Amino acid sequence: MTKNFSIPQSVQWKDDHILLLDQQKLPLETVYVELRNIKDVWDAIITLKVRGAPAIGLTAAFGLAMAANSYEELDLTSFHDRLNKDREYLASSRPTAVNLAWALDRLVNKVKNAISVNEAKTTLTHEAIQIQAEDEEVCRQIGINALSLFNDNDKILTICNAGSIATARYGTALAPFYLAKDLGKRLQVFASETRPVLQGARLTTWELMQADVDVTLITDNMAAHTISTKGINAIIVGADRITANGDTANKIGTYNLAILAKAFDIPFYVAAPLSTFDPSLSSGQLIPIEERDAREITHIFGQQIAPAGVKVFNPAFDVTPNELITAIITEKGVLQGNYTEEIKQLFAEKTV
Ligand code: MRU
Repeated sequence: MTKNFSIPQSVQWKDDHILLLDQQKLPLETVYVELRNIKDVWDAIITLKVRGAPAIGLTAAFGLAMAANSYEELDLTSFHDRLNKDREYLASSRPTAVNLAWALDRLVNKVKNAISVNEAKTTLTHEAIQIQAEDEEVCRQIGINALSLFNDNDKILTICNAGSIATARYGTALAPFYLAKDLGKRLQVFASETRPVLQGARLTTWELMQADVDVTLITDNMAAHTISTKGINAIIVGADRITANGDTANKIGTYNLAILAKAFDIPFYVAAPLSTFDPSLSSGQLIPIEERDAREITHIFGQQIAPAGVKVFNPAFDVTPNELITAIITEKGVLQGNYTEEIKQLFAEKTV
């Protein structure tokens, strides 16, 4: 990595608590909060102190391990009962990103055959640490695979924050920009502000600037004009859940960009780890879409901007149909073409 610049990290495990970069306070304040019990973790996820599919998953994993470590004087059966209840509680914090359930299930399954409560507690912590370490390597690999699709001097548009602070490190959609810096490839990023809660304006610009990546901020409604006048070469986004046919849920506004990419005949890429795939769902219509508090729309930083009592619709995600996606970039390679077949193949290989 280039000296004097750094790639920020949002989740740190500190043996008995989580030290979390409070993403709600960025970019004006860089504040770290300590999560010391399961309720702290649930609150941090629902209030978006931590957000982004892989980061939610690994925070919940540490949260479950931390909760289990606090159980006292339980036999193995009661331990599993309590663990399953806590798993359900954490999984209920946000519904769309499948990484949350994936990480929690990975922990619960890992200790199914534990022979003692102490062994189970140790194993849970190790597994959460392992998920974080794997996610960093997976994101690096996604970055390498994504970079092969870009040319020197390309201008690339993104939405929301699918960056380092949304994962263990590097990010998914933003990973190629960090690796490009290392390799001396020049890429220019255009970040869409991402209303209602401005992950693009507050987070993507902040983290790319920490690492000296060339980034320009636009509002969401400037996308078509920017593609046309700045010569955007490609769009790259992250994902919260990808179904068996390649349909992809991501931050609200992603679908708009996919339609624009088609209209302008530029590639539309989704970058995501295998932990974001949900092959149990046949299509994107089955993905639960989180609807959030109306205040996210009617207020900006506590300031009311819409008439009191106005009716509000606030879906946090939309689903981009597979036919609008040029390629899905994973740690195992780039999927292009018949997603149903390729995804089936990918998960068949995984279970061999
Ligand atoms: O509501 P958020 O901020 O959690 O939404 C996040 C996104 O939509 C990201 O693009 C997605 O989780 C991928 S993060 C690598």
